[in-house]
Amino acid sequence: MSFSIIGTGRCVPKYIMTNQEISTFVDTSDEWIQQRTGICERHICKEETITDLCVTAAKNALEDAGVTPQELDLIICATLRGELITPSEACIVQKELGATCPAFDINGACSGFMYALDVADGFFARNKVKNVLVIAADNLSNITDWTDRSTCVLFGDGSGAVVLSKGEGLRSINLTAKGNTDVLFAPRGENTSPFYKHPSERPVLHMNGPEVYKFAVTSMVRGIKKAIKDAGLTPDDIDHIIPHQANSRIIEAAAAKLPIPHEKYVFNIAHYGNTSASCMPMALDEANKAGKFKKGDYIAMCAFGSGLTTGSAVIRWDKD
Ligand code: UT7
Repeated sequence: MSFSIIGTGRCVPKYIMTNQEISTFVDTSDEWIQQRTGICERHICKEETITDLCVTAAKNALEDAGVTPQELDLIICATLRGELITPSEACIVQKELGATCPAFDINGACSGFMYALDVADGFFARNKVKNVLVIAADNLSNITDWTDRSTCVLFGDGSGAVVLSKGEGLRSINLTAKGNTDVLFAPRGENTSPFYKHPSERPVLHMNGPEVYKFAVTSMVRGIKKAIKDAGLTPDDIDHIIPHQANSRIIEAAAAKLPIPHEKYVFNIAHYGNTSASCMPMALDEANKAGKFKKGDYIAMCAFGSGLTTGSAVIRWDKD
């Protein structure tokens, strides 16, 4: 026994930062950003905390599912960095929701939502849970180097959430990791120990864009093919593809190597940028609320990110 998705939700901060605005503080242009990434604008936290984003997305998902916080048996939050070092973001959300179940965070970077789904699957398989809330949230604007044009144009803030309940919706899931601290990383930042011998570095994202790009295209093609095969399906059976929204050129390049028509791909990068772990559940929620999924549809998903990690899955949409 595994799970089916019975509710989805999302939340983005109010403030919208356009490419034009970014071009006022780094040497870039709306044309360059749109051509090279497909991004037009992104939402950036000013007033909101990551907890605000998580709680709103969670409440939306619970409402969509018709499940109360008291009926939850587990909360998992996929995030690079919650509001506090401790307690976990999942525990903060549990308190805000008034839930009483166990709660913990997972750091799988942009693949975090997929990692969280696979962990949740284990709880269902062991018959430990009936209802699980999985939230994915990142506010990368807090760890972006806003003087580095090669990274600051890419990211946005947001959160997405799903409620999982016992069912057979998860048809396959596969995670990978290839430890690498060079191509995409962010140092932890200040260390308060007077005894520690290593220098503190600014906690900002560093990325070798072209290397991540190559990894991303290869991983998406491999991940989607494997997820479909492991589900016992063929590409023709797939109704929707939700790729990690990192760069529309990455999605296009991977799509060109897969025998699945372009119209089945979900794209929302233009308005959000890369929201890290949140990309997948935000896209799921957007498509769900727009009525794009029919009961019985097969959705293939693939994420990749720092780690270097990947996660791919096929989910049957079991919600009416
Ligand atoms: O969740 C995973 C996280 N990250 C990713 O998935 C990112 C993967 N990588 C990418 O999406 C692309 O590599 C980027 C969008 C980051 C960069 O695109 P690219 O086509 O790979 O460009 P590049 O890094 O090879 O740079 C080409 C040129 C360089 O100038 P020169 O050396 O040719 O004169 C850069 O300095 O573009 C320049 N450049 C920019 N120009 C204007 C880099 N960023 C910008 C910018 N505006 N924002």
